[in-house]
Amino acid sequence: MIKVSENLQLRKISTSDTNALFILMQEIYPLAYQHFWKDNGNWYVNSQYSKENILKELSQENTDYYFILYDEEIIGNFRIIWDEKLEGLHDVKQVKLHRLYLHQKTQGLGIGKTLLTWLEQKAFKKSYSIIWLDAMDEQPQAFQFYKKRGYTYHSHTFLPYTLLHDEVRKMSQVYKILT
Ligand SMILES: CC(C)(COP(=O)(O)OP(=O)(O)OC[C@H]1O[C@@H](n2cnc3c(N)ncnc32)[C@H](O)[C@@H]1OP(=O)(O)O)[C@@H](O)C(=O)NCCC(=O)NCCS
Repeated sequence: MIKVSENLQLRKISTSDTNALFILMQEIYPLAYQHFWKDNGNWYVNSQYSKENILKELSQENTDYYFILYDEEIIGNFRIIWDEKLEGLHDVKQVKLHRLYLHQKTQGLGIGKTLLTWLEQKAFKKSYSIIWLDAMDEQPQAFQFYKKRGYTYHSHTFLPYTLLHDEVRKMSQVYKILT
């Protein structure tokens, strides 16, 4: 267990946690993103958080996958992918923050900010100079959150998933140089 602050802890997700992670995301994901999808996001959660896909992501080299605990309750999760490169920025050490999700009931309490600061300090100590991530343009809560924390635009793509509504397909890659 990693203590991030007084009431915030991280616990590594292991291969025996696949069902717990799936159940958690079945609850958390639609609260934030169901309006993006024609099926409320069911297909996305079922595919991204299938046992098979979670095990694949856990076995990927250079990754850390964590549950976020607030007051000892699991309220979210995220992945860190060390050395995942952002196209066009090849010559520096980079780390990707992948899919940070907090339960709606604990959003806006400063947890996201605390976690980003924790990751930025950890990465800086390990001599990484860039953190980057994907953010959905039409999710202001996430997009503005990263902008406020100093993350800037790098590039964008349009997600091809059939079940996604056309007007929300834009996903930007944003990054921050660590100093
Ligand atoms: C996005 C998320 C990680 C942010 O974490 P959080 O703990 O809720 O955010 P914090 O409480 O640390 O707030 C940080 C800042 O974002 C700002 N913010 C939050 N929502 C905002 C909005 N809709 N518009 C503008 N700013 C917003 C807050 O005002 C705060 O800034 P301030 O301290 O300068 O006032 C979290 O809300 C979340 O998981 N959301 C749902 C899932 C999601 O979209 N994840 C991102 C996947 S890439």
